Amino acid sequence: MRISLRLQRSGIRLSRDRAMYVCICNGLTDKDFTRAARAGATTVGQAFGVLGERPQCGKCFGCARQCIAEARLDMAQENIQEAAE
Ligand code: FES
Repeated sequence: MRISLRLQRSGIRLSRDRAMYVCICNGLTDKDFTRAARAGATTVGQAFGVLGERPQCGKCFGCARQCIAEARLDMAQENIQEAAE
């Protein structure tokens, strides 16, 4: 995931297999937001709905938005690859 790559470039090491907490208020990780995006969520609000949670402080919105955008980009790339095969 691109967030992990950016953090690695900044000196913070993350494993692709490990989840990174995005929303501390609800204990949601990047993988949760990715799952919500793959389930059809296109906005942070929709992602919270898919995950059965409600936003509280809102500090996670930027990172959550980026997780969703990256998941949607990954899905688009997968669709292009499938179409090319
Ligand atoms: S960190 Fe997500 S609502 Fe507070």
